[in-house]
Amino acid sequence: MKPRPEIRGTTIAGTGMYVPDRVLTNRDLERMVDTSDEWIRERTGISERRIGAPGQASSDLALAASQRALEMAGLGPLDVDQIIIATTTPDRYLPSCACTLQQKLGATRAAAYDVFAACSGFVYGLGIGSSLIGTGMADTVLLVGVEMLSRVVDFTDRDTCVLFGDGAGAVVLRPCEPGAGILAVDMHSDGDLGDVLEIAAGGSLLPASGDTVRDRQHYISMRGKKLFPFAVRSMEESVRTVLDRAGLAAADLDLVIPHQANRRIIDSMAERLALPREKVVVNIERYGNTSSASIPISLDEVVRSGRLKPGDHVAMCAFGGGATWGATLMRWTLAPLAPSSAKTAGALSPMAETPAAP
Ligand code: ACO
Repeated sequence: MKPRPEIRGTTIAGTGMYVPDRVLTNRDLERMVDTSDEWIRERTGISERRIGAPGQASSDLALAASQRALEMAGLGPLDVDQIIIATTTPDRYLPSCACTLQQKLGATRAAAYDVFAACSGFVYGLGIGSSLIGTGMADTVLLVGVEMLSRVVDFTDRDTCVLFGDGAGAVVLRPCEPGAGILAVDMHSDGDLGDVLEIAAGGSLLPASGDTVRDRQHYISMRGKKLFPFAVRSMEESVRTVLDRAGLAAADLDLVIPHQANRRIIDSMAERLALPREKVVVNIERYGNTSSASIPISLDEVVRSGRLKPGDHVAMCAFGGGATWGATLMRWTLAPLAPSSAKTAGALSPMAETPAAP
């Protein structure tokens, strides 16, 4: 969709991130499954990932990221009209993760709900949030991507356990003049690809039972080879779509923030769009794949390091389980931060953490 001229523009007024303190390195994984640091770095680009502490939940990570995003936007919890959390790993299925965050944050005026779109959840959330602001349904939307994938990863399965990590990223969406901020959003799904990435049990189809636990059906299973070409093609096409809608070309992009699933996927997509390396954000080596959190974490790092300036064109694109995919194109509006507030969020701890084995 492309925002219609009669509706308000939407922009990002603040960003924040939080990752747990505990680092799980490839060397640590070598001691857990039959893998090697060399294989993981060569095939995925990942060196380490963060793992949440026992007792820590997705809403705790989301809280720390949200507080930093609100602080950057110069707003408080009572300013928030709607909280949207993109996640596949909520604290629990009822209540929603967003309602738990609403309570922890003290955002007593806000409506709150979760969006389940796997790794594309943040891009979907930008589509929903900009529609709410564009139509006047909301003035301030807090959008969070948060995952604790370590809680649904089978640490005996080398195909998946080397890939995923925990973390949260948040943005505050606010109105802006039309023609600035979010210029276009593209969102898709294809349920025929439902089997490429799934958690088979725990829902209405296969409720939790002794058998499902014994058969390890509460963990992520993945058909990585089938996902790879789909990931490259879908992100490339979606970026081209948002560029078309805004009347721009790939050469007009100042920065692309892709979902961090695999370094080789990102490189292939960048090559197909003829994007130079310095225009493509990659931090997968430090966090692994944090699903819906990977784009807002990357965005916060980019913003706090002063890599974006007003007027820059930035695209964000993702693919994920479902299958889902999409992209957003923005004309950046936020001025670079003063050096005192440019610190990254990793140090802000929402709770005391006790490192433990996954
Ligand atoms: N360590 C060592 N060897 C491994 C490991 C491991 N951790 N995992 C797999 N292997 C082996 C395989 O068993 C295979 O061995 P074989 O040749 O004897 O059968 C060999 O390595 C090669 O396996 P491939 O599957 O061909 O490896 P590939 O190059 O395709 O890389 C990977 C696998 C990293 C999963 C890749 O396919 C990929 O990244 N796919 C996309 C995954 C993805 O994006 N997932 C998340 C998407 S959605 C979301 O983000 C939630």
